[in-house]
Amino acid sequence: MKVTVVGAGAVGASCAEYIAMKDFASEVVLVDIKEGFAEGKAMDLMQTASLNGFDTKITGSTNDYTKTANSDVAVITSGIPRKPGMTREELISTNAGIVKTVAENLIKESPNVIIIVVSNPMDTMTYLAHKATGLPKNRIIGMGGALDSARFKYRLAEATEAPISDIDGMVIGGHSDTGMIPLTRLATRNSVPVSQFISEERMQEVKEATKVGGATLTKLLGTSAWYAPGAAVAAMVHAIATDAHKMFPCSCFLEGEYGLNDICIGVPALIGANGVEKIVEIELSATEKEELSNSAEAVSKTNGLL
Ligand code: LAC
Repeated sequence: MKVTVVGAGAVGASCAEYIAMKDFASEVVLVDIKEGFAEGKAMDLMQTASLNGFDTKITGSTNDYTKTANSDVAVITSGIPRKPGMTREELISTNAGIVKTVAENLIKESPNVIIIVVSNPMDTMTYLAHKATGLPKNRIIGMGGALDSARFKYRLAEATEAPISDIDGMVIGGHSDTGMIPLTRLATRNSVPVSQFISEERMQEVKEATKVGGATLTKLLGTSAWYAPGAAVAAMVHAIATDAHKMFPCSCFLEGEYGLNDICIGVPALIGANGVEKIVEIELSATEKEELSNSAEAVSKTNGLL
């Protein structure tokens, strides 16, 4: 499998690193507009190969998309990250033009590519990539839910004092501080509802901490996070490479599912060789339905700024 990662910043480089560490891809091409930057990151990463035991070949390119030709999967991380105090939505004016150009450049060289969008505001950038390329909806996926769910599991493990491997949980809805919907009702510790281990009040704290997970890190780091976003992308690319039909909440183009239309928003989906193999419609409670409808309204409003 050949994977292109556009944007060799912290998120893009982490994507490349985690993909390489899983050692399933033959090649990862890093692309960046900054002269020599992607080549440098690629060389540095390649010099970890003998130490970390992978054979994936990582190369870099300064904005030359011919190097990305015939990629099976491309990850778009380009654009500016948020600074402390900013919302993801505030990035739209800068990032929209960049994401559109990148998506168009990618499909010129790789007409069969599956695109994973990471750039923020992620749901709107996924929608934009969908509109700009006209690719079938299974081949444009927004990465948000996989990351937000990993952050939810971290918070649940912390609250229950459980090992993370005991915990399962999922976040649907928009990838924004107010739009995320951590499904607390369905979270489990080794198949027992987490609500049996912690109070409703503690559960609400977990929910709120999950929703501002990205903002909390942005405040600590001075820029947005990269390890967990990179790892979430790598997990999705691995599911595509292995045709795993693994269920991730991710931003998918909806045509009636969950009562929503003409929008990309986080819903559970099976990810396999064709990208989104199936959108999974789970039974939501009345409150969760309302939260999803509010979240969709906010995403549509941001889409309206395109
Ligand atoms: C975050 C960015 C990737 O949540 O949106 O860290």
